[in-house]
Amino acid sequence: MAVRSIITGTGSALPPAIVRNADLEEKLDTSDTWIVERTGIRERRIAAPEVKTSDLAVEAAEAAMASAGVGAGDIDLVVVATATPDDTFPATATRVQARLGIRQGAAFDVAAVCSGFVYALTVADALLKTGAHKRALVIGAELFSRILDWEDRTTAVLFGDGAGAVILEARDEDGRGILAARLHADGRHGDLLFVDGGPGSTGTVGKLRMKGREVFRHAVTNLASVVEEVLADAGLEASAIDWIVPHQANARILEATARKLGLPMERVVMTVGQHANTSAASVPLALDQAVRDGRIRPGQLCLLEAMGGGFTWGAVLLRF
Ligand code: UT7
Repeated sequence: MAVRSIITGTGSALPPAIVRNADLEEKLDTSDTWIVERTGIRERRIAAPEVKTSDLAVEAAEAAMASAGVGAGDIDLVVVATATPDDTFPATATRVQARLGIRQGAAFDVAAVCSGFVYALTVADALLKTGAHKRALVIGAELFSRILDWEDRTTAVLFGDGAGAVILEARDEDGRGILAARLHADGRHGDLLFVDGGPGSTGTVGKLRMKGREVFRHAVTNLASVVEEVLADAGLEASAIDWIVPHQANARILEATARKLGLPMERVVMTVGQHANTSAASVPLALDQAVRDGRIRPGQLCLLEAMGGGFTWGAVLLRF
Protein backbone atom coordinates (compact mmCIF):
# COMPACT_ATOMS: atom_id res chain seq x y z
CA MET A 1 0.00 0.00 0.00
CA ALA A 2 1.28 3.48 -0.82
CA VAL A 3 2.42 5.76 1.98
CA ARG A 4 0.98 9.24 2.39
CA SER A 5 2.02 12.09 4.69
CA ILE A 6 -0.85 13.10 6.93
CA ILE A 7 -1.13 16.14 9.20
CA THR A 8 -2.05 14.75 12.62
CA GLY A 9 -1.63 17.90 14.71
CA THR A 10 -1.32 21.68 14.40
CA GLY A 11 -0.14 24.45 16.71
CA SER A 12 0.83 28.09 16.66
CA ALA A 13 2.36 30.86 18.75
CA LEU A 14 1.96 34.62 18.70
CA PRO A 15 3.76 37.20 20.83
CA PRO A 16 1.29 38.91 23.18
CA ALA A 17 2.01 42.54 22.14
CA ILE A 18 -0.43 43.86 19.53
CA VAL A 19 0.67 46.78 17.36
CA ARG A 20 -2.32 48.42 15.65
CA ASN A 21 -2.19 50.56 12.52
CA ALA A 22 -2.98 53.60 14.69
CA ASP A 23 0.23 52.94 16.66
CA LEU A 24 2.21 53.09 13.40
CA GLU A 25 0.50 56.35 12.39
CA GLU A 26 2.38 57.96 15.28
CA LYS A 27 5.81 56.98 13.90
CA LEU A 28 5.36 56.90 10.13
CA ASP A 29 3.70 58.96 7.39
CA THR A 30 0.93 56.40 6.99
CA SER A 31 -2.72 55.91 7.90
CA ASP A 32 -5.00 53.15 9.10
CA THR A 33 -7.18 53.82 6.04
CA TRP A 34 -4.29 53.33 3.57
CA ILE A 35 -3.08 50.15 5.26
CA VAL A 36 -6.56 48.59 5.52
CA GLU A 37 -7.59 49.53 1.96
CA ARG A 38 -4.34 48.39 0.30
CA THR A 39 -3.58 45.31 2.40
CA GLY A 40 -6.43 44.32 4.76
CA ILE A 41 -3.98 44.51 7.70
CA ARG A 42 -5.38 45.99 10.93
CA GLU A 43 -2.83 44.83 13.48
CA ARG A 44 0.23 42.62 13.93
CA ARG A 45 2.09 40.98 16.81
CA ILE A 46 5.61 42.14 17.62
CA ALA A 47 7.86 40.09 19.90
CA ALA A 48 9.74 41.56 22.86
CA PRO A 49 13.50 42.08 22.26
CA GLU A 50 14.57 39.04 24.30
CA VAL A 51 12.35 36.62 22.33
CA LYS A 52 14.07 34.42 19.75
CA THR A 53 12.61 32.74 16.69
CA SER A 54 13.24 29.37 18.35
CA ASP A 55 11.10 30.45 21.35
CA LEU A 56 8.07 30.94 19.13
CA ALA A 57 8.92 27.77 17.18
CA VAL A 58 9.07 25.67 20.36
CA GLU A 59 5.76 27.06 21.64
CA ALA A 60 4.03 26.28 18.32
CA ALA A 61 5.68 22.85 18.19
CA GLU A 62 4.54 21.94 21.70
CA ALA A 63 0.96 22.84 20.80
CA ALA A 64 1.15 20.74 17.60
CA MET A 65 2.66 17.79 19.49
CA ALA A 66 -0.07 17.99 22.14
CA SER A 67 -2.82 18.09 19.51
CA ALA A 68 -1.30 15.06 17.72
CA GLY A 69 -0.76 13.27 21.03
CA VAL A 70 2.94 12.63 20.34
CA GLY A 71 6.07 13.13 22.43
CA ALA A 72 9.73 13.90 21.75
CA GLY A 73 10.52 10.21 21.28
CA ASP A 74 8.02 9.95 18.41
CA ILE A 75 9.58 12.60 16.12
CA ASP A 76 12.53 11.85 13.85
CA LEU A 77 12.63 14.92 11.61
CA VAL A 78 12.51 18.64 12.47
CA VAL A 79 12.29 21.16 9.64
CA VAL A 80 12.08 24.86 10.41
CA ALA A 81 11.21 27.30 7.66
CA THR A 82 12.60 30.70 8.57
CA ALA A 83 14.33 33.73 7.09
CA THR A 84 15.02 35.08 10.57
CA PRO A 85 17.03 32.32 12.30
CA ASP A 86 18.29 32.79 15.87
CA ASP A 87 21.90 32.79 14.63
CA THR A 88 23.63 32.37 11.28
CA PHE A 89 24.27 28.79 12.40
CA PRO A 90 23.49 26.26 13.76
CA ALA A 91 20.13 25.81 12.12
CA THR A 92 17.25 27.02 14.28
CA ALA A 93 15.77 23.53 13.79
CA THR A 94 18.60 22.04 15.87
CA ARG A 95 17.93 24.56 18.67
CA VAL A 96 14.27 23.55 18.57
CA GLN A 97 15.15 19.85 18.50
CA ALA A 98 17.33 20.24 21.61
CA ARG A 99 14.75 22.30 23.51
CA LEU A 100 12.03 19.72 22.79
CA GLY A 101 14.23 16.83 23.90
CA ILE A 102 14.21 15.13 20.49
CA ARG A 103 17.34 12.97 20.22
CA GLN A 104 16.81 10.94 17.05
CA GLY A 105 16.60 11.75 13.35
CA ALA A 106 17.54 14.92 11.46
CA ALA A 107 16.97 18.66 11.87
CA PHE A 108 17.55 21.45 9.39
CA ASP A 109 16.24 24.84 8.23
CA VAL A 110 14.66 25.72 4.93
CA ALA A 111 15.20 29.22 3.54
CA ALA A 112 12.47 30.09 1.07
CA VAL A 113 11.15 33.18 2.89
CA CYS A 114 7.35 33.50 2.59
CA SER A 115 7.12 30.19 0.67
CA GLY A 116 9.20 28.54 3.38
CA PHE A 117 6.46 26.50 5.00
CA VAL A 118 5.18 25.15 1.68
CA TYR A 119 8.78 24.27 0.78
CA ALA A 120 9.40 22.65 4.19
CA LEU A 121 6.19 20.63 4.04
CA THR A 122 7.04 19.39 0.55
CA VAL A 123 10.58 18.38 1.58
CA ALA A 124 9.30 16.62 4.71
CA ASP A 125 6.65 14.82 2.63
CA ALA A 126 9.35 13.58 0.24
CA LEU A 127 11.57 12.35 3.12
CA LEU A 128 8.66 10.54 4.78
CA LYS A 129 7.82 8.83 1.50
CA THR A 130 11.36 7.40 1.24
CA GLY A 131 10.69 5.52 4.48
CA ALA A 132 13.83 7.00 6.09
CA HIS A 133 11.73 9.11 8.48
CA LYS A 134 8.39 8.37 10.11
CA ARG A 135 7.12 11.50 11.80
CA ALA A 136 8.12 15.09 11.09
CA LEU A 137 7.69 18.33 12.97
CA VAL A 138 7.39 21.05 10.32
CA ILE A 139 7.50 24.63 11.58
CA GLY A 140 7.31 28.10 10.08
CA ALA A 141 8.70 30.68 12.53
CA GLU A 142 9.66 34.28 11.97
CA LEU A 143 10.61 37.51 13.68
CA PHE A 144 10.30 39.82 10.70
CA SER A 145 10.14 42.82 13.06
CA ARG A 146 13.92 42.36 13.44
CA ILE A 147 14.71 42.85 9.73
CA LEU A 148 12.33 45.73 9.02
CA ASP A 149 13.47 49.27 8.32
CA TRP A 150 11.09 50.96 10.76
CA GLU A 151 11.49 54.25 8.89
CA ASP A 152 10.31 52.80 5.56
CA ARG A 153 6.52 53.07 5.45
CA THR A 154 6.32 50.94 2.29
CA THR A 155 7.47 47.81 4.19
CA ALA A 156 7.27 48.48 7.96
CA VAL A 157 3.47 48.35 8.06
CA LEU A 158 3.22 45.00 6.27
CA PHE A 159 4.88 42.39 8.50
CA GLY A 160 4.55 40.75 11.90
CA ASP A 161 6.01 38.00 14.12
CA GLY A 162 4.68 34.50 14.80
CA ALA A 163 5.05 30.76 14.35
CA GLY A 164 2.98 27.78 13.26
CA ALA A 165 3.71 24.06 13.28
CA VAL A 166 2.33 20.74 12.11
CA ILE A 167 3.05 17.10 12.83
CA LEU A 168 3.36 15.24 9.54
CA GLU A 169 3.19 11.49 9.73
CA ALA A 170 3.75 8.67 7.22
CA ARG A 171 0.68 6.44 7.11
CA ASP A 172 -0.70 3.83 4.79
CA GLU A 173 -2.86 5.55 2.21
CA ASP A 174 -6.49 5.98 3.31
CA GLY A 175 -7.56 8.86 1.08
CA ARG A 176 -6.14 11.50 3.45
CA GLY A 177 -2.79 13.28 3.36
CA ILE A 178 -0.73 15.24 0.85
CA LEU A 179 -2.11 14.53 -2.63
CA ALA A 180 0.12 16.85 -4.66
CA ALA A 181 2.91 19.37 -4.07
CA ARG A 182 4.77 21.66 -6.46
CA LEU A 183 7.62 24.08 -5.84
CA HIS A 184 9.04 26.79 -8.10
CA ALA A 185 11.73 29.46 -8.06
CA ASP A 186 12.83 32.20 -10.42
CA GLY A 187 16.01 33.79 -9.10
CA ARG A 188 16.01 36.51 -11.75
CA HIS A 189 13.63 38.45 -9.50
CA GLY A 190 15.81 38.30 -6.39
CA ASP A 191 16.17 42.08 -6.22
CA LEU A 192 12.44 42.79 -6.01
CA LEU A 193 12.23 41.41 -2.45
CA PHE A 194 15.42 40.90 -0.47
CA VAL A 195 17.39 41.74 2.68
CA ASP A 196 20.34 44.06 2.03
CA GLY A 197 22.83 42.26 4.25
CA GLY A 198 24.19 38.91 5.38
CA PRO A 199 27.29 37.13 6.69
CA GLY A 200 28.76 36.59 3.22
CA SER A 201 28.16 40.10 1.86
CA THR A 202 28.00 43.00 4.33
CA GLY A 203 28.69 41.12 7.53
CA THR A 204 25.51 42.64 8.95
CA VAL A 205 21.97 41.31 9.21
CA GLY A 206 20.47 43.87 6.83
CA LYS A 207 16.95 45.20 6.30
CA LEU A 208 14.08 44.06 4.12
CA ARG A 209 13.63 45.89 0.81
CA MET A 210 10.69 45.35 -1.52
CA LYS A 211 9.26 46.68 -4.75
CA GLY A 212 5.74 45.85 -3.62
CA ARG A 213 3.84 46.56 -6.81
CA GLU A 214 6.02 44.23 -8.92
CA VAL A 215 5.88 41.49 -6.27
CA PHE A 216 2.10 41.80 -6.21
CA ARG A 217 1.83 41.36 -9.98
CA HIS A 218 4.01 38.25 -10.02
CA ALA A 219 2.27 36.78 -6.96
CA VAL A 220 -1.17 36.75 -8.57
CA THR A 221 0.10 35.12 -11.79
CA ASN A 222 2.45 32.59 -10.18
CA LEU A 223 -0.04 31.47 -7.54
CA ALA A 224 -2.77 30.91 -10.11
CA SER A 225 -0.51 28.72 -12.25
CA VAL A 226 0.93 26.60 -9.40
CA VAL A 227 -2.57 25.99 -8.05
CA GLU A 228 -3.63 24.73 -11.49
CA GLU A 229 -0.62 22.39 -11.43
CA VAL A 230 -1.45 20.70 -8.11
CA LEU A 231 -5.11 20.37 -9.05
CA ALA A 232 -4.11 18.71 -12.35
CA ASP A 233 -1.62 16.42 -10.53
CA ALA A 234 -4.39 15.26 -8.20
CA GLY A 235 -6.99 15.07 -10.98
CA LEU A 236 -9.31 17.45 -9.10
CA GLU A 237 -11.30 20.56 -10.01
CA ALA A 238 -11.02 23.83 -8.07
CA SER A 239 -14.65 23.44 -7.01
CA ALA A 240 -13.59 20.41 -4.89
CA ILE A 241 -11.47 22.63 -2.61
CA ASP A 242 -13.04 23.10 0.81
CA TRP A 243 -10.44 25.55 2.16
CA ILE A 244 -7.72 27.71 0.67
CA VAL A 245 -5.06 28.33 3.32
CA PRO A 246 -2.90 30.93 1.60
CA HIS A 247 0.21 32.84 2.55
CA GLN A 248 -1.11 36.02 4.14
CA ALA A 249 0.64 38.91 2.41
CA ASN A 250 -2.24 41.03 1.23
CA ALA A 251 -6.03 40.54 1.31
CA ARG A 252 -6.18 41.68 -2.33
CA ILE A 253 -3.87 38.83 -3.42
CA LEU A 254 -6.08 36.36 -1.55
CA GLU A 255 -9.18 37.77 -3.24
CA ALA A 256 -7.57 37.65 -6.68
CA THR A 257 -6.54 33.99 -6.20
CA ALA A 258 -10.01 32.98 -5.01
CA ARG A 259 -11.59 34.83 -7.93
CA LYS A 260 -9.32 33.07 -10.45
CA LEU A 261 -10.33 29.71 -8.95
CA GLY A 262 -14.02 30.67 -8.99
CA LEU A 263 -14.23 30.12 -5.21
CA PRO A 264 -16.06 32.40 -2.73
CA MET A 265 -14.07 34.19 0.00
CA GLU A 266 -15.95 32.08 2.58
CA ARG A 267 -13.61 29.24 1.62
CA VAL A 268 -10.44 31.27 2.20
CA VAL A 269 -8.82 31.26 5.64
CA MET A 270 -7.85 34.89 6.14
CA THR A 271 -5.66 36.00 9.06
CA VAL A 272 -3.77 38.88 7.43
CA GLY A 273 -5.99 41.41 9.26
CA GLN A 274 -4.81 40.23 12.68
CA HIS A 275 -1.30 38.88 11.97
CA ALA A 276 -0.11 40.89 8.92
CA ASN A 277 2.51 39.06 6.84
CA THR A 278 4.43 36.64 9.07
CA SER A 279 6.38 35.15 6.13
CA ALA A 280 6.97 31.38 6.60
CA ALA A 281 4.71 31.35 9.67
CA SER A 282 1.58 32.63 7.96
CA VAL A 283 0.30 29.40 6.37
CA PRO A 284 0.67 27.17 9.47
CA LEU A 285 -0.71 29.98 11.67
CA ALA A 286 -3.80 30.25 9.47
CA LEU A 287 -4.13 26.46 9.29
CA ASP A 288 -3.96 26.09 13.07
CA GLN A 289 -6.51 28.84 13.60
CA ALA A 290 -9.02 27.27 11.21
CA VAL A 291 -8.48 23.77 12.66
CA ARG A 292 -8.94 24.99 16.23
CA ASP A 293 -12.07 27.03 15.51
CA GLY A 294 -13.62 23.99 13.82
CA ARG A 295 -13.69 25.26 10.24
CA ILE A 296 -11.20 22.71 8.84
CA ARG A 297 -12.32 19.16 9.60
CA PRO A 298 -10.81 15.74 8.86
CA GLY A 299 -11.40 14.63 5.29
CA GLN A 300 -11.68 18.14 3.83
CA LEU A 301 -9.64 19.21 0.83
CA CYS A 302 -7.20 22.03 1.66
CA LEU A 303 -5.02 24.04 -0.67
CA LEU A 304 -1.92 25.60 0.89
CA GLU A 305 -0.12 28.13 -1.32
CA ALA A 306 2.56 30.80 -0.98
CA MET A 307 4.84 33.12 -2.89
CA GLY A 308 7.79 35.11 -1.64
CA GLY A 309 11.33 36.40 -1.98
CA GLY A 310 13.59 34.64 -4.42
CA PHE A 311 11.13 34.55 -6.08
CA THR A 312 9.94 31.25 -4.70
CA TRP A 313 6.42 29.88 -4.80
CA GLY A 314 4.56 26.64 -4.36
CA ALA A 315 1.36 24.85 -3.44
CA VAL A 316 0.38 21.75 -1.50
CA LEU A 317 -3.00 20.07 -1.96
CA LEU A 318 -3.98 17.82 0.91
CA ARG A 319 -6.92 16.00 2.39
CA PHE A 320 -6.83 16.96 6.04
O1 UT7 B 1 5.10 37.99 1.33
C1 UT7 B 1 5.89 38.05 0.20
C2 UT7 B 1 5.16 38.57 -0.90
N1 UT7 B 1 4.86 39.97 -0.69
C3 UT7 B 1 3.79 40.44 -1.24
O2 UT7 B 1 3.05 39.69 -1.80
C4 UT7 B 1 3.55 41.92 -1.19
C5 UT7 B 1 2.93 42.31 -2.49
N2 UT7 B 1 2.67 43.73 -2.60
C6 UT7 B 1 1.68 44.36 -1.94
O3 UT7 B 1 1.02 43.78 -1.11
C7 UT7 B 1 1.38 45.78 -2.35
O4 UT7 B 1 2.05 46.10 -3.54
C8 UT7 B 1 1.74 46.82 -1.27
C9 UT7 B 1 0.75 46.70 -0.11
C10 UT7 B 1 3.15 46.59 -0.78
C11 UT7 B 1 1.62 48.23 -1.81
O5 UT7 B 1 0.33 48.45 -2.35
P1 UT7 B 1 0.16 49.12 -3.80
O6 UT7 B 1 -1.27 49.29 -4.02
O7 UT7 B 1 0.93 48.27 -4.76
O8 UT7 B 1 0.83 50.55 -3.58
P2 UT7 B 1 2.09 51.18 -4.30
O9 UT7 B 1 3.33 50.52 -3.86
O10 UT7 B 1 1.81 51.26 -5.75
O11 UT7 B 1 2.05 52.62 -3.66
C12 UT7 B 1 0.94 53.51 -3.87
C13 UT7 B 1 1.19 54.80 -3.11
C14 UT7 B 1 2.58 55.37 -3.31
O12 UT7 B 1 2.45 56.77 -3.38
P3 UT7 B 1 2.52 57.52 -4.83
O13 UT7 B 1 3.88 57.15 -5.38
O14 UT7 B 1 1.40 56.93 -5.61
O15 UT7 B 1 2.39 58.92 -4.44
C15 UT7 B 1 3.30 55.02 -2.05
O16 UT7 B 1 4.33 55.92 -1.72
O17 UT7 B 1 1.06 54.56 -1.70
C16 UT7 B 1 2.20 55.10 -1.03
N3 UT7 B 1 2.47 54.28 0.16
C17 UT7 B 1 1.93 54.52 1.37
N4 UT7 B 1 1.09 55.46 1.80
C18 UT7 B 1 0.72 55.41 3.09
C19 UT7 B 1 3.26 53.18 0.24
N5 UT7 B 1 3.23 52.70 1.51
C20 UT7 B 1 2.42 53.52 2.21
C21 UT7 B 1 2.00 53.54 3.54
N6 UT7 B 1 1.15 54.50 3.94
N7 UT7 B 1 2.40 52.62 4.46
